[in-house]
Amino acid sequence: MSTSLRETIDRLEREKLLLRINHALSPRYEIPLVIREFENKFALLFENIEGYSNFRIVAGIYGDRYRLSTALGLRENELLQKINEAIRNPEPLKVIAHSFDYTIKDGIDINILPIPTFYEKDKGPYITAGIVIAKDPETSVRNASYHRMTPIGRDLLVVRVVKRDLWHYLQKAQEMGKDLEAAVVIGVDPATAIAGAASVPIDVDELEVASALLEKPLEITKGVTVNIEYPASAEIVLEGRFLVDSMEEEGPFVDITGTYDIIRKQPVFQISAILLRRNPIFHTILPAGIEHKTLMGIPREARIYDSVRGVTIVRDVHLATWGCGWLECIISIEKRHEDEPIDAGLAAFAAHPSLKKVIIVDPDINIRSCEDVYWAVITRAHPIRDYIIIPRGKGSSLDHSGTPRARLIVDATIKGEKTLFKRANIPGSIKAEKIISRIRNSLKLC
Ligand SMILES: Cc1cc2nc3c(=O)[nH]c(=O)nc-3n(C[C@H](O)[C@H](O)[C@H](O)COP(=O)(O)O)c2cc1C
Repeated sequence: MSTSLRETIDRLEREKLLLRINHALSPRYEIPLVIREFENKFALLFENIEGYSNFRIVAGIYGDRYRLSTALGLRENELLQKINEAIRNPEPLKVIAHSFDYTIKDGIDINILPIPTFYEKDKGPYITAGIVIAKDPETSVRNASYHRMTPIGRDLLVVRVVKRDLWHYLQKAQEMGKDLEAAVVIGVDPATAIAGAASVPIDVDELEVASALLEKPLEITKGVTVNIEYPASAEIVLEGRFLVDSMEEEGPFVDITGTYDIIRKQPVFQISAILLRRNPIFHTILPAGIEHKTLMGIPREARIYDSVRGVTIVRDVHLATWGCGWLECIISIEKRHEDEPIDAGLAAFAAHPSLKKVIIVDPDINIRSCEDVYWAVITRAHPIRDYIIIPRGKGSSLDHSGTPRARLIVDATIKGEKTLFKRANIPGSIKAEKIISRIRNSLKLC
């Protein structure tokens, strides 16, 4: 298990999952374009950033389940259960002295960071892998969650805060008439990276969940200008406070669907200190890219897995990459009763209210293959009996197809005579397989 971003990079490089890019590239559009091209296959370390010679940028480190499990030192099939166990059994943290190489408190200028500008109509450069650590102003329970943010002044950022735990803390702080202290950490260990993306009950500290994932106490350090502790191995930290009563326009900016989210008034964060390591590594996440989908999706898949397990035997869960990694979920189950797939679909909606569509399949279907899933839908689902529409539900603010938001369950499991639904097989032969492999090699296919 890696305990820092640097260790994660080393580990991925040893496994040949990381590409170093030495060509000089600008963070404005150029680096995002290269990320979009290659992050499906590799984590990317940009070592030559135009205008920011001391920095490096990393992207795509958690670009798929394999990279994420490799970073966490787990096997892919252990991932969801391990996350659920960690959420159920948070572990204590260890406070250590801070070891940053630079602490900037005077003359703060956020523009020293190589913050990428991704899409053409974006409001500006955006920090997309920043995890905000804050404490409940009443109970002091800590929360860690990702929030996109963009500079609106040298020491000011406007931050997108959905109505979840951080938003709740901000509401309480506002009622008390005081600012909310926080720290934004960029470039952390994989356990913190995944815990920050998980939605846990409001009285659970995500950093303690990271500790449980690590299987040893996560090392945290005290802020120098705020009463907030944060992961000690972070590459970059922005300490500061959300200003009470200060809201500014956030967006336009692209969300997980690949389309522009609407412009809203959002909270403002004022930076009181910037802490950096020597040659800091700035982690960036391409909005709507594969890393965005993996990080947002995996903790939700874990929750869906847990919920559906209550009604049937679950084999696997996938928030489909072709469903924006958020709106469509494929679940393979071993059904024991003809109507269990419908209960499985309902349990999935309960675990992930943003879901729009759930497809339930049998275990013989590869739920990560769009072609396989839609083969099951077209051969095994009846258009009247097996498509269940739920006319109202919370749904996702990113789904613009109409309100009230409706939901769909597709039961694509086999009904009736099983042999009629099984895919035909061609018996293998060692000779034929060897020849196929030779032909592949000669064609340079893997
Ligand atoms: C890459 C990434 C970007 C995210 N961006 C935001 C965001 O801008 N605003 C937001 O409120 N949540 C965002 N989220 C979602 C929250 O971080 C995540 O759902 C978290 O679990 C919410 O935590 P909470 O339930 O503890 O409040 C993002 C998640 C990821 C993985």
